[in-house]
Amino acid sequence: MSQPHTHNHERVRVRLGKRSYDIVIHPGGLKQLGQYLQDLGYAGKVGIITNSIVQSLYGRTVSQSLKRAGYQCHVICIPDGERAKTLRWVSHILDQLMAQRFERQSILVALGGGVIGDITGFVASVYLRGIPFVQVATTLVAQVDSSVGGKTGVNHPLGKNMIGAFYQPSLVLLDTQTLHTLPKREWIAGLAEVVKYGMIADRKFFAFLESRIDDLVKMEDTVLHHVVKRCCEIKASVVAKDERESGLRRILNYGHTIGHALESLGKYKTYIHGEAVGIGMVHEADLAHSLGLCSEQVVIRQRDLVRRAGLPSGLPKLNFRDLWGAMLHDKKVAHGRIHCVLPKAVGTVTVDPLDQKSVKSWFGQLEKSRA
Ligand code: NAD
Ligand code: GLY
Repeated sequence: MSQPHTHNHERVRVRLGKRSYDIVIHPGGLKQLGQYLQDLGYAGKVGIITNSIVQSLYGRTVSQSLKRAGYQCHVICIPDGERAKTLRWVSHILDQLMAQRFERQSILVALGGGVIGDITGFVASVYLRGIPFVQVATTLVAQVDSSVGGKTGVNHPLGKNMIGAFYQPSLVLLDTQTLHTLPKREWIAGLAEVVKYGMIADRKFFAFLESRIDDLVKMEDTVLHHVVKRCCEIKASVVAKDERESGLRRILNYGHTIGHALESLGKYKTYIHGEAVGIGMVHEADLAHSLGLCSEQVVIRQRDLVRRAGLPSGLPKLNFRDLWGAMLHDKKVAHGRIHCVLPKAVGTVTVDPLDQKSVKSWFGQLEKSRA
């Protein structure tokens, strides 16, 4: 018999028919992972996929909770960071699952940030043609974005996230207390995705962020809880309407056209993802303004919020050819046309094709103003 959950927690449902699942936002909830799995009716072996950093911080809590609930668990550690998001480490995890005789009834738990979530989901999608998995997300990026929505996968040497599958988790458990141990840079970078949700879908939430950004930066508990929940609600609603990104889901890529270009021009060393998205949003809004899509006020409000969050906002020195070339390399480019998410107002965006001439003219103006 499972015990009743003792702590205050809230649920957001991701409505995808038979593949629906809950996102549980539960400060301190890591200790109750075992109960959550019992509630889902799982009885098999549990494979915890994590890295050594997260394992040393939270591995014991998770394993103890699972053991208390009667689960046999096996921890599989991969190296920290993006460099482990490869087929080689997929293969390593699969080897371990085979050796430990994981079965169809077994479950995987992704314990970590977006890297761990993406690779675990992908392994879960291919092992025995698919076994269930649970996201236990421990970074802000993972809690507000990557753990929800079923995009899973790994990188190819020629491109990021090029190998993967849409494969939904059975549960997403978000223990906001785990965010307190994040390195400051990772924490701040995640705030870019938070600002993104206000810009793409909810002007009231954006105004809330403007009024409480200082408390959020300090990780004030009630603000943090509200923010994680609201971001998950927005993501869940977008994914429910367009799981496989045939239309609406593209709005989640706001800030990413320029953001991805900056990441790749910096060889993924200059910026971490959220930082590049922050700069990307600031400049995509500026571009939208130059195209007559939004007012200058939109550009200013967003730039101020990005800066107050502690994120970088300035474009590094680069030339137009390199920027445009890198923008064209995005996975989302079709027939050489870049579809970019551009703001019309705070809380409303449009997805428009960009032509080289207008981006070049915007870039020229920007260069002049920087000179
Ligand atoms: P990450 O997974 O590399 O985690 C960042 C760092 O924080 C790592 O060093 C990690 O070990 C450490 N860490 C994790 N939790 C911690 C904690 N609680 N305390 C201390 N340290 C902790 O990076 P990320 O920003 O979480 O995720 C980025 C990845 O997510 C990228 O690979 C990106 O492609 C992917 N992503 C996927 C989606 C999606 O929809 N699937 C969306 C956005 C990003
Ligand atoms: N992170 C973008 C998406 O989930 O679609």
